[in-house]
Amino acid sequence: MRLFGANIGFWQPWFKIGNVIREAKLHGKENAKILIMRTLIKHALASAEPKDLVIIKGWIRTRRDSKGFSFLEINDGSCLGSLQTVVNSGIPGYDQLHHLTTGASVIIKGKLVASPGSGQKWELAATEIELVGTSDAAYPLQKKGHTMEFLRTIAHLRPRSNLFGAIFRTRSRLAYAVHQFFQERDFVYVHTPIITASDCEGAGEMFRVTTLKGNIDEKPEADFFGRRSYLTVSGQLEGETFACALSNIYTFGPTFRAENSNTARHAAEFWMIEPEMAFCDLAGDMDLGEQFVKAMAQYALEHCAEDVGLFAKFVDKGLHDRLRFVAERPFQRVTYTEAVGILTSCGHKFEFPVQYGLNLQSEHERYLTEEHFKCPVTVYNYPREIKPFYMRLNDDGKTVAAMDVLVPGIGEVIGGSQREERLELLNENLRRHNLRPEDYWWYVDLRRFGSVPHAGFGLGFERLIMFLTGVSNIRDVIPFARTPGSADF
Ligand code: 4AD
Ligand code: MG
Repeated sequence: MRLFGANIGFWQPWFKIGNVIREAKLHGKENAKILIMRTLIKHALASAEPKDLVIIKGWIRTRRDSKGFSFLEINDGSCLGSLQTVVNSGIPGYDQLHHLTTGASVIIKGKLVASPGSGQKWELAATEIELVGTSDAAYPLQKKGHTMEFLRTIAHLRPRSNLFGAIFRTRSRLAYAVHQFFQERDFVYVHTPIITASDCEGAGEMFRVTTLKGNIDEKPEADFFGRRSYLTVSGQLEGETFACALSNIYTFGPTFRAENSNTARHAAEFWMIEPEMAFCDLAGDMDLGEQFVKAMAQYALEHCAEDVGLFAKFVDKGLHDRLRFVAERPFQRVTYTEAVGILTSCGHKFEFPVQYGLNLQSEHERYLTEEHFKCPVTVYNYPREIKPFYMRLNDDGKTVAAMDVLVPGIGEVIGGSQREERLELLNENLRRHNLRPEDYWWYVDLRRFGSVPHAGFGLGFERLIMFLTGVSNIRDVIPFARTPGSADF
């Protein structure tokens, strides 16, 4: 099967699979060796001119046979498009035709030539084909049109489908865009710990990390870390310590929540981006959050155009308009009190009650952004009772300087606040939340030594991807979803 390694005349002795080395005249020297690299299909399709020799490596999407030749569609995941390849019956490797089936992996050498067929500019006229790995009739991606639910059961193969290839390429580019956004603004990237002893959000939704057997609560001091420890729900507290030294920082890492909510927008493991700014108040925080979401929409339009085109065709017809709208138009801002007023007087029937002092539920958030304002909305100044200990008390003594950015189709994509920088008030908040100041001594210390007003937020990366692709379930924008009852793959 390994044709290219075998003795096949002209390619000997320098021909090797992958990085092909062949003898040639180079700069006038006889028998110099030229390295011919594998070409990604993305680059082959974007070529400005025909090429005498390219080598592609990928998986067969489809095969059509005619008399004396076959058409193969080869995809290597580098872009949405596949490269049409014409394989004549005489070429080395054609004897493996019966194995050149959907899902099989191949290496093909050939000429990149203008395609006479419609729909593609270039095609590959194969001169050699090597079957690398066979794929039998059990390969589940034979046909198009599988449901998202089915594709979740084959999460190890779904990246080979057009839609999931597009989702995960977009996810990768946006991760890059996140770093670019903050690095261009002089934010320092901080790697906050994944294992922590503190419950930042105070919601008790944490996964315990332990090496104890039996009753793990009996003697936490005998545990690996000498105390109860957990997977982090947020890098914020540690992020604050770095902001109070390096001024502007951000984190971008995995985050864990043991909330037992089986919804389309909650995962037990997700990625969060958390900027934190020293010498910044809530207004500055809202400005950054809004600019960030806008910049990501703009980036997706500019740098993920082909994949966004696929989402617009098959997932969300209004995607282009929405992304442009978000990138270009200002977001609305309302206080929590105003939002409650809108929701109680709008006449819409909600499943959950709306009342000052209660949390806004997803249906309320979505009503505000989708129905009432018809654009992204930032809700700020929430009642102190429903928010965590670290948020700064406003002068009214009732509300805290919190903010949530809500977007159509998702609801909350960002949650943030100005932090309580006043020592006395922070200690009082810890007591109110039944937290022991000695457990947070290092966090409290920031308020003793050069305390400054500071603010930040957390953006759920998967929710951002959902928003920018139109994909409506969080399980489909993370490679391997961890949700209640499911940690497969
Ligand atoms: O609003 P949250 O809980 O805020 C915090 O964790 C703050 N410590 C952030 C900060 O100020 N530095 O979470 C922030 C965002 C939410 O708006 C949401 O987008 C996302 O994280 N998120 C989740 N995403 C997926 N699955 C979950 N279970 C999520 N929980 C929160
Ligand atoms: Mg929140």
